[in-house]
Amino acid sequence: MQSHQEVKTVPSGAVFCCRDKKRIHMKSEMERAVDRLIENPGAVFLMGALDSGKTTFGLELAKRAVAAGLRTAIVDADVVQSTIGPPTTTGLRFVDAATEFSPEGLRVADGLGFVGSMIPKGHLLPLITSTMKLVNQARARGCDLIVIDSSSLVSGIYGQTLKYFKLDLISPDFVVAFERGGELEPVVGLAQRFTAAEVIELEVAPEVRSRSVDERMQSREEAFAAYFAHGSSRWRVKPTVFMPTLPPEFDLALLDELVVGMEDGDGHCVGIGVLEYDSGEDILRMISPVSEGVRGLRLGSIRMDISGRAKGPVDLRQLFGTA
Ligand SMILES: Nc1ncnc2c1ncn2[C@@H]1O[C@H](COP(=O)(O)OP(=O)(O)OP(=O)(O)O)[C@@H](O)[C@H]1O
Ligand SMILES: [Mg+2]
Repeated sequence: MQSHQEVKTVPSGAVFCCRDKKRIHMKSEMERAVDRLIENPGAVFLMGALDSGKTTFGLELAKRAVAAGLRTAIVDADVVQSTIGPPTTTGLRFVDAATEFSPEGLRVADGLGFVGSMIPKGHLLPLITSTMKLVNQARARGCDLIVIDSSSLVSGIYGQTLKYFKLDLISPDFVVAFERGGELEPVVGLAQRFTAAEVIELEVAPEVRSRSVDERMQSREEAFAAYFAHGSSRWRVKPTVFMPTLPPEFDLALLDELVVGMEDGDGHCVGIGVLEYDSGEDILRMISPVSEGVRGLRLGSIRMDISGRAKGPVDLRQLFGTA
């Protein structure tokens, strides 16, 4: 850990207010980290295992940055417990004094990236590229402070590969690591050895609460359903618009309930949809709240219904019968 001596001391016992409006006490170490980040704004990459307090810290940091008059953005690279945009996507949100820092207030994204899955492990490429694109978007807007909230995949070859390449592309100014035991040592080591970022290591606050599998599933379902709840329509979809391109004579029924990303033809994801196969007409329709600016659809790797129930992962190679 670097620059601890430079960290300003702040009165201990300061109070943060977390997403679900509970009042929570941040340890003074966290308060000092926030102060340091506000005084030296840049891109801040948050890293930690499941339920380590990343999102709560990130939102509090963003809130404080806004209060300090900094142009601030949040990039949400968690495609499962997502804060910005629906699950299966990465999201960007510009925040200011008018922003309501609640799940509902943050749900609508200013930028989206389509990953098409809730299993980061198998989808490192779109996860990394879409996160990078959203950070670029925030930088292009002139944001002073960009909070990058990442997924909880931090260990093993996949976790290390994901974090290494994200850090390599994004080049954050700071990495904030939330540690319990030694679980972050390998990725913290990578950040220290391979990047120019200042690494701030924080202990996971004892108050951080673990969520059960059911709670996590419920919040995922609600977030997905909320996305489709307002103004969703059905659109007929031509089989020629997909990425990857469908093989000749492809059975369209195999795409029923597949999640798709809607792309504007200029490198931006404008929304997501769910495909629906109509056996009477042998056609595909897409259900989505977005109706404009779509030039192509990216096939995801998960089936879902619009109430948010996951119907299982899909391996496109198996579906296409190709390598
Ligand atoms: N400093 C804190 N004091 C009290 N409660 C906290 C604190 N930080 C987080 N929490 C609570 O702990 C729970 C998990 O926190 P949070 O969602 O920020 O973790 P996370 O690392 O982002 O989780 P995930 O792995 O799901 O992304 C939440 O209910 C949150 O309100
Ligand atoms: Mg989180």
